[in-house]
Amino acid sequence: MLIPVILSGGAGTRLWPVSRSAYPKPFMRMGDGETLLYKTLDRALRVADEGRVLTVTGRDYYFLTRDEYATHPRANLDHLPFLLEPAGRNTAPAILLAALYARAEVSPDAVLLVLPADHLIRDLDAFAADVGRARALAEQGWLATFGIPPTHAETGFGYIRMAEAVEGLEGRRVNAFVEKPQREVAEQYLASGDYVWNSGMFCFRADALIEAARTACPDVLAAAEACHAHATAHESPVEFARESFLAQPDISIDYAVMERADRRAVIAAGFDWSDIGSWKAISELEPESDEHGNRVRGQAILVESSNCYIQSDKRMVAAVGVKDLVIVDTDDAILVADRERAQQVKLVVDRLRADK
Ligand code: GDD
Ligand code: MG
Repeated sequence: MLIPVILSGGAGTRLWPVSRSAYPKPFMRMGDGETLLYKTLDRALRVADEGRVLTVTGRDYYFLTRDEYATHPRANLDHLPFLLEPAGRNTAPAILLAALYARAEVSPDAVLLVLPADHLIRDLDAFAADVGRARALAEQGWLATFGIPPTHAETGFGYIRMAEAVEGLEGRRVNAFVEKPQREVAEQYLASGDYVWNSGMFCFRADALIEAARTACPDVLAAAEACHAHATAHESPVEFARESFLAQPDISIDYAVMERADRRAVIAAGFDWSDIGSWKAISELEPESDEHGNRVRGQAILVESSNCYIQSDKRMVAAVGVKDLVIVDTDDAILVADRERAQQVKLVVDRLRADK
């Protein structure tokens, strides 16, 4: 039994003013009108057995998420259970709670496919084929991850060093997993050709992950087990006692388990993949709208301007004599940023929070 687990957590502060805490990144609409969350559910339903998909998200997003799922023609809400978090505690607690739930409510050898709700993948046939490969590894007890061939020395991703092929199966062993290395290290990895980016998507049996965590991070597992035991409801939506939930450490699955576990394998992805992390990443998805490298979503007039990204739903944006800008217009806020400094948009959100 393969059950996709959709993780929908982070606020995506680098995508302010469209992504905000009341309406975070997975709810952002792409150029084709679909949200990232809808696309993730669609991907999940393609590979799920019996249309069953588990979602781990914040309590505040439960109704918004269900409403979004309800717009999918193949979604049966009765088969889409939810685990609701009272607050974000990062991906290790979220994924371990999903594994404990699946072990108890489905089967210990249920195969989980972890899918972050903020990725964009277009080639869904290639995706489904790679999930089949990862599933075969997971069924044999491997912790499988999906590796993306790197295009630059990105420091915002984890890197996986690929070793020899797994005997009898498609995929390679992992002999190092390095979460978010320093720039010089990332450059060496890129040059060596032995590394792929960790996509943040994983595939493993529920029991295999739990046992790997027991060795790699016993404290994180113990806290998740205590939290699981204090679930206030076992039927969807599953909620947890606030105190036991918050007692879990704030740590990612990458640091807690993947960096340290044995029997890790990687599938080099045959699909395109984009982590929608910043306005620069979003802008690169939009086709160029003129010969000066500008990209426009909405209405804009650009005079002697180049290499800009403009997004505006309602108002007309005009720019004269500028270059390398990101301009995003919404009902109550406008962002103007240097394209190459799009990562720093999160500092705006920090300021807004501090001023509150
Ligand atoms: N439900 C839930 N609860 N989801 C969460 C939480 C949480 O507390 N924290 C994070 N998530 C979700 C995010 O919404 C996102 O979809 C996914 O888990 C990954 O979290 P990020 O915070 O975006 O992780 P990252 O970008 O720093 O790093 C991870 O992803 C990279 C690829 O995008 C790592 O796995 C890296 O190794 C990887 O390269
Ligand atoms: Mg991310």
